[in-house]
Amino acid sequence: MSLSSKDIDGVTAAALEAIAGAADLDSLKEVRIAHVGDKSPIARANQSLASLDPSARAEFGKVIGKAKGSITSAFESRQRVLEEERDARVLVEERVDVSIAAKRTPSGGLHPLTILTNEICDLFTGLGYRVAEGPELEAEWLNFDSLNIPADHPARTMQDTFFIEPLDSHLVLRTHTSPVQMRTMLEEKPPIYVICPGRTYRADELDATHTPVFSQVEGLVVDRGITMADLKGTLDHFARSIFGADVKTRLRPSFFPFTEPSAEVDFFFNGRWVEWGGCGMVNPKVLRAAGIDPEEFSGFAFGMGLERTLMVKHGITDMHDIVEGDIRFTQNFGSGLR
Ligand code: DAH
Repeated sequence: MSLSSKDIDGVTAAALEAIAGAADLDSLKEVRIAHVGDKSPIARANQSLASLDPSARAEFGKVIGKAKGSITSAFESRQRVLEEERDARVLVEERVDVSIAAKRTPSGGLHPLTILTNEICDLFTGLGYRVAEGPELEAEWLNFDSLNIPADHPARTMQDTFFIEPLDSHLVLRTHTSPVQMRTMLEEKPPIYVICPGRTYRADELDATHTPVFSQVEGLVVDRGITMADLKGTLDHFARSIFGADVKTRLRPSFFPFTEPSAEVDFFFNGRWVEWGGCGMVNPKVLRAAGIDPEEFSGFAFGMGLERTLMVKHGITDMHDIVEGDIRFTQNFGSGLR
């Protein structure tokens, strides 16, 4: 069956109407298959040309060609319009407001005292020391007697020490980290190289320079042939790595019951000498109390406050800043996380 020119007009009108009525690109695609595709009336009319005689074929071919041309151009212009509409819509719908404030999740950080403690432990483990810890609730004997601190020593009064009830439990909140020395010597045989950071307690009021809960770090070495020169060299290295390469230390004669001789260690920082802590050669009595032969072994020990170290290092003038935990203060030290 062949189509007349009139039929072609009808086919064309139907195609143009469908194209104009396609509301979006998906429906236009369907319209294309139905009205322009291989099986569409216009394509079939084109195929039927082959069965016409040559003059009719030329004439009807022109009609079909014209119809195909107008359908195709209508299709193309509708497609352009719909694409522009889609692009404009996508620009609005998928707009990203780059000026909106980002949601930030603040990440936590370590307290500056913890950061300092980690720094010190890293330094000493790098020198071959082990980190040793002891309990904050300590036997009175380990905190005092074993360290050669006699019963009538002023540090043992109620004003300085937090005793734990019942008093005959003979437990105290440790007043220094030195009992970790004794714990270590009782548990291990020399050579001993330990660094002992920890929290300590004394019955002080909290003010700009004191806090009843504070922190110390203790160092202990017991080995053959240890001298005060080893102590001095170790303190120099310690001070330089915490305060800077050009920092000097000095020892001043002093007294501690558990060291003999004993000294105070100061360091020279920002143009002045600053008291840092106590130190000395482990008292032979203390070695003996720990079952170590002082004829064979000698040792040195040192102990200093970490709050004070932190305050001097960073120019902090008020202890409250260190103990109160306000992150506006602690944030200045970085997270300390590695
Ligand atoms: N434990 C002493 C204090 O809290 C500090 C100290 C002094 C520690 C001399 C030592 C030392 O290891 O040898 O005041």
